[in-house]
Amino acid sequence: MNRRALLKAGLVAVPTAAAVTAGGVGRWWAGIDITTAGRIRFVNRLAVPPLARSERDAEGRRVFDLRAAPGRHRFRPGRPTPTWGINGPHLAPTLRAARGETVLVRFRNDLPETTTLHWHGMHLPAAMDGGPHQPVEPGATWSPTWTVDQPAATLWYHPHPHGRTAAHVYRGVAGMFILDEPDPPALPHRYGVDDVPVIVRDINLTDGNRLDERERSQGGVGIVGEHVTVNGTLAPYLPVTTQRIRLRLLNASASRIYRFGFASGRSFALVGTDGGLLAAPHPTTRVQLSPAERAEIVVTMRPGEQDVLRGLPPDAGLNFWDRRLTGGDDILDILQLRAAPRLDPSPPVPDRLAEPPRVAAPGTPPDRTFRLAKYTINGRPMDMNRIDFAVAHGGTEVWEVTAIDGTPHNFHVHDVQFQVLSVGKKPPPPHLRGWKDTIHTPPNVPIRIAMRFRGHPDPTNPYMFHCHILNHEDRGLMGQFVVTPEGRLPRSAAAPSHHGH
Ligand code: C2O
Ligand code: CU
Ligand code: CU
Repeated sequence: MNRRALLKAGLVAVPTAAAVTAGGVGRWWAGIDITTAGRIRFVNRLAVPPLARSERDAEGRRVFDLRAAPGRHRFRPGRPTPTWGINGPHLAPTLRAARGETVLVRFRNDLPETTTLHWHGMHLPAAMDGGPHQPVEPGATWSPTWTVDQPAATLWYHPHPHGRTAAHVYRGVAGMFILDEPDPPALPHRYGVDDVPVIVRDINLTDGNRLDERERSQGGVGIVGEHVTVNGTLAPYLPVTTQRIRLRLLNASASRIYRFGFASGRSFALVGTDGGLLAAPHPTTRVQLSPAERAEIVVTMRPGEQDVLRGLPPDAGLNFWDRRLTGGDDILDILQLRAAPRLDPSPPVPDRLAEPPRVAAPGTPPDRTFRLAKYTINGRPMDMNRIDFAVAHGGTEVWEVTAIDGTPHNFHVHDVQFQVLSVGKKPPPPHLRGWKDTIHTPPNVPIRIAMRFRGHPDPTNPYMFHCHILNHEDRGLMGQFVVTPEGRLPRSAAAPSHHGH
């Protein structure tokens, strides 16, 4: 398929003047800013990941069967692309469970490589976490079980094998995990109708339609893709049949930061972040998500109207080159919303949604500080055999995290949802006032987060904390902690490493 045919199909990212004057260096454009604003013909109906089937076992547990395997997925005309997926060729079904339920996942790895499956944002025992210490060999199975004990939220799941996370996620192993609670506020909730997952991933395709895994960008963040997919669909449109639609935005990209907004500039209601609903809806025109962050938004449409969800240049505090080389100047059309001529009524967004987090008071001094750089935390790279510290079971801690090397980073902590106490010297802005498990860390801005380690002491199995730019994580921007009864490291503070990274 030649470039013209692709252009006709609306699938070519057009380099802007900057790239063209850089001397027609062709493929190098991925390191240069691109804009697809107004240039995509939205010809493909948005795929919605199926809800995973589950059954109740004799013990009353909700049981899911997941099988990861290679497959082929059609991103665009021409050859199908070799991909990985769970229970299908690409991406993974949406899991759904309610607070108080016990979940059992029977996971089988039929990929050609050892992988893991991590429940991002979930509060659960470390042995069930699916981090790098729970490898699943090809042909093997792993059956984690835990009881859901946290507010309704949009979580997700993805592989976490040490050093290989970027590749496994990029090939397509990623899905949503929606948690419910009894008596939710009156928000749109019909899955795939007015409550729709929006899993955003950027990819590069070779001329032969293979996933291009080369790091084309010079910015040190790994793959920056020129094509943005939603739920695995390129150039997608979503038919809207109700006055209001709830979009569960998940940035499942390896490294891009998206500042989502609409082409029309319309305002929408931000109703939830990583770990649950906000106390009240926040009306805004933009919401920025770094890798792994989520946002739930409610968009109000008029009959017959169309609009485009767009990724605008993020506000990431980077210098010119770091910004340019990490895709930070790009403008990307992502998803078209097409409202039907008649729309079913939706209730207004309630004024009150949830209890806000109250873990610690704003001025609380930090118990620990973390300095992030490529590719270390506090000067040390990840070591599978080193547990960095222990926290006390049931205790509350305040951590201060600062990115110190001027390049893009964020910070994710396993097992907990945290409260953001401050960003620099300021109180958190409205979009950071709800539960979070991942937060963007702009250069040299200390961020204080507070969390409570309320369950599952285990002196041997660690939880991870890391930058979720997957290339950074893979290269060592990660550490591990254990939760112990006293908050002290066991005498031999070595993690039960299964393999010798
Ligand atoms: Cu999304 Cu350590 O993971
Ligand atoms: Cu995680
Ligand atoms: Cu980083």
